[in-house]
Amino acid sequence: MRLDRYLSERTEYSRSRIKELIGAKKILVNGMPALKANVNITESDAVEIAGKPVRQSKYITLLLNKPAGYVSATEDKTEKTVTDLLPPEYRGQGLAPAGRLDKDTEGFLILSNDGDLLHELTSPKKHIPKYYTAELAREFTEEAKRLIAEGITLKDGTKCLPARAEAIDDEGRKILICLHEGKYHQVKRMLAATGNHVEKLRRIAMGNKTLPENLAPGEVTVLLNKDLSEVLKAEDIFLPLLKSLGKCSS
Ligand code: URA
Repeated sequence: MRLDRYLSERTEYSRSRIKELIGAKKILVNGMPALKANVNITESDAVEIAGKPVRQSKYITLLLNKPAGYVSATEDKTEKTVTDLLPPEYRGQGLAPAGRLDKDTEGFLILSNDGDLLHELTSPKKHIPKYYTAELAREFTEEAKRLIAEGITLKDGTKCLPARAEAIDDEGRKILICLHEGKYHQVKRMLAATGNHVEKLRRIAMGNKTLPENLAPGEVTVLLNKDLSEVLKAEDIFLPLLKSLGKCSS
């Protein structure tokens, strides 16, 4: 992998800053100043930047903006999987999705080859908040909002934790909803229990980390440790998200 890419994936330095540091001979590869941004680096090279060794992580964690039409699995006999979307350099490295989004659900999906992290991200004990926008067949009523806030019972009798949902358009056909658990088809089943139907579903954030606006459907970006700390934070960002979606709430 190119030196500038290697460093931008593992550190907080931008590519332009990395170029400057190369010019200033502040980046060492195996003890020698690197002369160009495009020198090839492998995991066996020791890289130092401004006097500090760069972490040689054996794990890779990516954030995918999942498009509809892909199943959240590493392989499937008949369907296209989210790992089919990975750029070639991330293939064959054991990356697996952290939990599932339905085939027709879009948005925020983490893939990693760090088993402990995958476990942490999907553990029901963690209650990491997950934020979705949903387009509905019918208007989202005050009664539906109340049922969801109290902890709705699904049609099969399953009781859900209390959850927050709010309309984000004037017709009430689009909502922001935040869940602290991840039951099978949960958003769709919760809305079905209110007599509604989800027509389109998109996960837009997990923990405090939102899907970057410039990450196109099907694209991935590397998550650094600082990004993962954001994901694992359980602060409530419902109101800031509502605002950013163009809706203020009292
Ligand atoms: N809830 C659903 O119904 N589907 C998803 O993909 C995620 C949450």
